[in-house]
Amino acid sequence: MSGGNVLMIGSGGREHALCWKLADSPFVQKIYCTPGSVGISTTDKVECVELDVKDYPATAKWCKDHEIDLVVIGPEDPLANGVVDGLAAFGIPCFGPTKAGAQIEANKDWSKAFMAKYQIPTARYKSFTDAAAAKEFINTAPFPALVVKASGLAAGKGVVVAASKEEACQAVDDILTDSKYGSAGETVVIEELLEGDEVSVLAFTDGETVSMMPPAQDHKRVGDGDTGPNTGGMGAYCPCPLITPDQLLDVKEQVLQRAVDGLKAEGIKYVGVLYAGMMVTKSGPMTLEFNCRFGDPETQVLMTLMESDLYKVMKACVNGTLKQMQVTWNTKLSAVGVVIASKGYPETSTKGCVISGLSQVQSTPGMVVFHSGVSRGANGTLVTWGGRVLLVAARAGSLRAAAAAATAAAALVDFPGAHYRKDIAYRAFTNM
Ligand code: AMP
Ligand code: GLY
Repeated sequence: MSGGNVLMIGSGGREHALCWKLADSPFVQKIYCTPGSVGISTTDKVECVELDVKDYPATAKWCKDHEIDLVVIGPEDPLANGVVDGLAAFGIPCFGPTKAGAQIEANKDWSKAFMAKYQIPTARYKSFTDAAAAKEFINTAPFPALVVKASGLAAGKGVVVAASKEEACQAVDDILTDSKYGSAGETVVIEELLEGDEVSVLAFTDGETVSMMPPAQDHKRVGDGDTGPNTGGMGAYCPCPLITPDQLLDVKEQVLQRAVDGLKAEGIKYVGVLYAGMMVTKSGPMTLEFNCRFGDPETQVLMTLMESDLYKVMKACVNGTLKQMQVTWNTKLSAVGVVIASKGYPETSTKGCVISGLSQVQSTPGMVVFHSGVSRGANGTLVTWGGRVLLVAARAGSLRAAAAAATAAAALVDFPGAHYRKDIAYRAFTNM
């Protein structure tokens, strides 16, 4: 196989982990990352560049000038805006779905109707554009219709899991009447409340074949024991034992493969990562949502366990040859990632605080650091530059050992106001 140059779109911890793994491939000469971040470009192979990726002709020309043979898109927004369609029109190979495929995440109303059409297990639901009708449904549905979602992309904030019918009706008013999420909230999806453990099941796909990654679990609440407000994710671990091998097989066949086949039947060739957010309920795994991309922070732990060459896997997805490929993972190790956040996160964040202790963590065998909100301060020091600052990932022979190592390493990283969860992976231990 001949190699090439990669363009990565994004700047977070997820993109850092993908660049880190891609840089390991002997087939990758150079990775450009736009906009990237200080942390991402710590190896010579990775260079940050400023591009207006919404300008597809200019970006395509840049890709040709820089001999890019693979564009990888990290976040959902560019995918939902059609970056893959825009670049593919100029013959640039992209790892990620087209705008039509990205609807599976960007349009929950469409996604729920799609799941119903192709019998993908999910919560019962109904969609509304009229607030009075939505509230009537909440008050009369034959199941607890307590989850209210803005149908469009709302930066992970458009979902209310209500404790009562009153709270659910209030959410309808916030989203539909008061336009809290703007046009993303022109339609609401009202869903049955599901109970169980949430597990992220991600898969590579070339539009035909599905290759599953090991299951992971994210921790969304800011505080230990899943308390406090929701965040972009305070940590993750992998593999997650809260879903059985039999249940995973069901997710592969009844959720991921069915979705890829269903998309194909709708005329959509879906290339990239399909992420199924599953709730493992007493009656089996149910789909909470699909994402059209890698998860953050799940990717930061997944990449530390991937054995196969990520570039070759991504190229196989783009070329439609995934079936011929055996994607392998380190099944002897577990990985735990702990996010260190800045003071005030998730409500506010503090910038410019000098970060210390990183070199100690990086020199420990089995540890990796991925940056999400880090910049360069005076004298070349690294300083905080966002809510979630970085993630320390540890690998070990057991989940318990990895969790202990990652938590101990997080304690070594210091800046004023730093905070992190000390219980990442705890649900795996309490439920085992
Ligand atoms: P979504 O973006 O649709 O995944 O929703 C965000 C979060 O809300 C999920 O990760 C769950 O924690 C929660 N959630 C979504 N739908 C449901 C549901 N039907 N029952 C319980 N919790 C849910
Ligand atoms: N970890 C949740 C997400 O990436 O959407």
